[in-house]
Amino acid sequence: MSDKAKICGVIGNPIKHSLSPQIHQKFAKQFEIDLNYQKYLIVQEQLNSFIREFFRNGGTGLNVTLPYKRLVINLVDTLSDAATVCQAVNTLSISKNGNIRGDTTDGAGLTLDLKRLQFKFKNKKILVVGAGGASISVIYELLKNQSKVTLHNRSQKKISVVISQFSNIGQIDAFDENKRVIFDGLICATSQFNQELLEPAISHLDKNAFIYDLNYGERATETLNYFKQKGFDRYSDGYGMLVGQAAKSFEIWHGVLPSIEDF
Ligand code: ATR
Repeated sequence: MSDKAKICGVIGNPIKHSLSPQIHQKFAKQFEIDLNYQKYLIVQEQLNSFIREFFRNGGTGLNVTLPYKRLVINLVDTLSDAATVCQAVNTLSISKNGNIRGDTTDGAGLTLDLKRLQFKFKNKKILVVGAGGASISVIYELLKNQSKVTLHNRSQKKISVVISQFSNIGQIDAFDENKRVIFDGLICATSQFNQELLEPAISHLDKNAFIYDLNYGERATETLNYFKQKGFDRYSDGYGMLVGQAAKSFEIWHGVLPSIEDF
């Protein structure tokens, strides 16, 4: 790292656990970019002044993680379409005229990983389980890529809210276990494993359907084991989505899309 290194980082609270510095350094190596990427533990009162100062001092880009993904919407000068629709920001950049721009790359990170895994989603019937913040970014990106999305969630009320939010963007409906439909893939976007919720989906999955859990590592184990026991053998946790969203942020800041293989 030299004085001329590009300065990037991630803001959140807590932030210790973040894997973003390692991921971005690995990307930087692919292009021999001199990168200084730090974790910044920020309290809410500091959020606006930290962001403004970071870019005023020549910073290139910031990732935003919990609990600030929604809050920073009100602090930026411009928002991408995806960030506007999803009401979430995970990437901040600065334009030539000095405007701070908010973007979300979570959904695009998922589709990048689905492509890597050869889990086909374009024009395919995809069952999304879960209707929280993570699910919103994913649904937006799937619909933009012509997936036919069916939504399943514990709270029925949230299903209707999300469907009305997205019905003008693409084909989306609510899961009905009595309807004869077979899905090509299932994306689990719940924060907890819930067998009761997943059970009715099993008979609606193609035998070659892919299963993708947005959680990664141990947090995905129960869900993935459940589907494994049911005989599905194309499955993945969400680690590649984490790498994928980082890759899309990297592209916004440095103008080149890194490879997400070998992570
Ligand atoms: P995130 O931003 O990670 O998506 P969130 O907005 O809190 O987190 O959303 C959590 C999702 O997990 C929701 O879909 C939630 O279902 P409800 O809308 O019914 O609350 C789902 N979820 C959390 N705990 C769950 C559980 N024990 N069983 C089933 N679904 C659960």
